[in-house]
Amino acid sequence: MSAFRLAVLASGTGTNLQAILDLLHGRDGVEVVAVGSNKRDAQALERASSAGVETGVFCGADYADRAQRDAAMADWLGERNVDLIVLAGYMELLSPEFVRRFRNRIVNVHPALLPSFPGLDAVGQALAHGARVTGVTVHLVDEGVDSGPILLQRAIKVPYTRDRAELEEEIHRVEHELLPEAIRLIAAGAVHIDPKNPRVVHVDVETRE
Ligand code: GRF
Repeated sequence: MSAFRLAVLASGTGTNLQAILDLLHGRDGVEVVAVGSNKRDAQALERASSAGVETGVFCGADYADRAQRDAAMADWLGERNVDLIVLAGYMELLSPEFVRRFRNRIVNVHPALLPSFPGLDAVGQALAHGARVTGVTVHLVDEGVDSGPILLQRAIKVPYTRDRAELEEEIHRVEHELLPEAIRLIAAGAVHIDPKNPRVVHVDVETRE
């Protein structure tokens, strides 16, 4: 069986990338074949290099506009025959052309229970709103902001202290389980979009751990 080829895009520290490398890379036919970033100094790039994974940098400043940058990034990923693109703290909106080219083959992890608190600083939004429960969502990426079909979600209680650092730590802990789990399910062919309602995603129960 040929490998399931994964690409990861990340802008920051890359702890989610690390979870993917630790839990999935080189196992059950899954290979991380490329890690791209819009930031030359992203720690995620060092994590990829340490794992022997090829990296690419696509800074906005090097291109005329976002569409051209994303076209270059899409070609780079296309040349590597990636099966799935994972946004793991990739802090830019992808162009509609990029999303169309890889339709239903891009997933994102978001630190809230969508559709609540989309966009930037979801943790801050949840705290400012007085939410008692928030969580983590893994979803397919469409042309909107955190608006694509939901794959997996897990709720997290906001701590009684409403301490941001404590909540963020718990969110990261859950992300590091939920994102690899979603990728594993997709790689296993256990995820199907409902033909009657493309917002609804079915997951084969027997494949879930
Ligand atoms: C995560 O909280 C993710 O939900 C958000 O960006 C953060 C990335 O963290 N989209 P890291 O770079 O994986 O540590």
